[in-house]
Amino acid sequence: MLKLVKTSTILSIILSSFLSLSFAQSSAPRLEKRGQATQLIVDGKPFLLLAGELHNSSSSNLDYLNTLWKPLKQQHLNTALVAVSWELVEPQEGKFDFSLVDGILKGGRDNNLKIVLLWFGSWKNGLSHYAPEWVKKDTRRFPRIKLENGRSTETISALSTEAMNADAKAFAALMKHVKKADASKQTVIMVQVENEVGVIGAARDYSDFANVEFAKAVPSELMQSLIAHKNELQPQLKSLWEQNGSKTGGTWSQVFGKSASADEAFMAWNYAKYINTVTAAGKAEYNLPMFVNAWIVQPEDKRPGDYPSGGPQSHVHDIWRAAAPTVDILSPDIYLQDTKGITAMYKHSWNPLFIPESFAGLDGAANAFYVIGRHDAIGYSPFGIDNKAEKPAETPIAKAYNILSQLTPEITKAQSEGKITAFTLKADSVQTAELAGYKINVTLRKNWSGVTQASQGYGLVINTAPDEFTVAGSNIDVTFVPLSAGPKMAGLSWVREGIVENGVWKPGRLLNGDNIMISYKLAEQAAVNKTGTGIRLLDEPSISKLKLYRFE
Ligand code: DGJ
Repeated sequence: MLKLVKTSTILSIILSSFLSLSFAQSSAPRLEKRGQATQLIVDGKPFLLLAGELHNSSSSNLDYLNTLWKPLKQQHLNTALVAVSWELVEPQEGKFDFSLVDGILKGGRDNNLKIVLLWFGSWKNGLSHYAPEWVKKDTRRFPRIKLENGRSTETISALSTEAMNADAKAFAALMKHVKKADASKQTVIMVQVENEVGVIGAARDYSDFANVEFAKAVPSELMQSLIAHKNELQPQLKSLWEQNGSKTGGTWSQVFGKSASADEAFMAWNYAKYINTVTAAGKAEYNLPMFVNAWIVQPEDKRPGDYPSGGPQSHVHDIWRAAAPTVDILSPDIYLQDTKGITAMYKHSWNPLFIPESFAGLDGAANAFYVIGRHDAIGYSPFGIDNKAEKPAETPIAKAYNILSQLTPEITKAQSEGKITAFTLKADSVQTAELAGYKINVTLRKNWSGVTQASQGYGLVINTAPDEFTVAGSNIDVTFVPLSAGPKMAGLSWVREGIVENGVWKPGRLLNGDNIMISYKLAEQAAVNKTGTGIRLLDEPSISKLKLYRFE
């Protein structure tokens, strides 16, 4: 009897631990199409990465790293992007050391932060500085690229099968360890594979073996994919292909022309193929969402190679799609002012948006609102978030993330239903969007004489019910003009400021009078179907809810 009880107890323990492990795996963080948005699902719910990326060397020493967590939390981050390097994980071939990884996981958990690991493997900013010494030294086994002038740089060739396999093995070992250490806790929610890859200093690899490959035909796998998607190719690749006769086969120069663009296409194919192998090896161990990031073209760049050639630039996305189907997101690192233009190129029908690197400060606050509200981004992450701030809770990013975290369930629901829009303003101009039967007009905050009171503003607007909206942000005036049939003007039934605490809306003041008055030039206003009233968001980011009524 005793023996029987014991056996059944042991069986049930085995069964329950098996079930909890398979539950953990089946509910692992994943990307899921919900309505019109692709969302990151964590712990069963849509998750917005209100994130920041640590400096490159911050996670190479745990004593140093452990001083950084607290201020991240004070800035209302929910996620940190943290580097893991091949050289520290596999200092000797086949001998793995995951003590830093374990320290990163512990730091994240102790501070209630999720982690996105950045795999600095074969490449980091195009170069191979993070490869272990045994890889760096063995240039026979792990050949470097050659520039056009025949010289080498510290860049492993993307055409090296040996390097690809060694990197894939190391990355698979990392993901196996992460699964074992973290699948039941889900601290790690996404992984970046390599960092800003591409050839710097030449448009392609000019080593002898690369020259041989370049002279061969474009792989039919790529040709077939371009043909299958010819009506939805990114415009630059489409016109490059068409300018060269829309050929369905031929060498790289025949299909893409005798120019650096053919070199770039060739490198994009080879980097994407290599990274696909590395990513697939990692996912086979632990299937987390995985993305790559692009060092995007800078205004002063004249040709590929000035920027990393072959990286996931928007103009070669279709090549990446064909070669790297295991990569979930092709992300831009944005260090330019044109966030609107850049994000419009990177968010498209099959590519969700995540910004792994960009500005902090006011630009960062505005960008976070804009990409999440305008492009259904899964998140935003300023680079160098561990820079010391005197008052971390008072930074523009902290204030913006505070609002975004309060509104996360409302935002992610609205993303999936197509009921959200967003604005970022610097110049003194009007921005507009159409939402739920209204034209929404946004300007930088003005006084009653029409004089602009701020140099930068941002906000998002969510349609929560017929004629009801949530508006959040800073330094903007927001007005609503009806677009749908019916009375031409929309007055404010009520406006209520408030905060969300533990998921519950806590109404504050009922806003009226001076707090909703935008302009007393009523004749001018009425001529364009405006009432003179609207939502006035001051410098301190805030949330208001409102209801409109129609009249004529
Ligand atoms: C982009 C890279 O991806 C980051 O790792 C970092 O080097 C920044 N540039 C610049 O500091």
